[in-house]
Amino acid sequence: MPSFTLTINGKQQSVDVAADTPLLWVLRDNLGLTGTKFGCGIGECGACTVHIDGAATRSCSTPVSTVAGRRVTTIEGLSSDRSHAVQKAWIADDVPQCGYCQSGQIMVAAALLAKGGKPTDVDIDTAMTNICRCGTYQRIRTAIHHAAGEV
Ligand code: FES
Ligand code: FES
Repeated sequence: MPSFTLTINGKQQSVDVAADTPLLWVLRDNLGLTGTKFGCGIGECGACTVHIDGAATRSCSTPVSTVAGRRVTTIEGLSSDRSHAVQKAWIADDVPQCGYCQSGQIMVAAALLAKGGKPTDVDIDTAMTNICRCGTYQRIRTAIHHAAGEV
């Protein structure tokens, strides 16, 4: 089994897995980072979203071999104490319902706001392609506007 050294949440980690293993499985099964969720497994729902070199990326469709040497951030690494502006806005606006999709939603929102500026509703709707079966889309949009005032 080949060995891959990854930088996850600022820490170097080595895993011995097949080259085509999805990053999502490495995070959850090999490294115990279960905040990143499995939804569809085919790159559609966004529940598995992480940042790779700062860009929101669906980890279910990302082979681990393509991530070696790159910087991966998961929901666990966004902040150590829920102090990221997006997390604070999510709590203040009571965004989650069941919560299953929310790690992915937060990671996409954080990547969007890291680009700077104040996104419009259209910017938000274009970036936020993640699916929420509970229909929290309106609260997500509101929270992103609130977070944009703090980033
Ligand atoms: S689990 Fe990755 S996009 Fe749905
Ligand atoms: S909060 Fe339930 S799926 Fe989004």
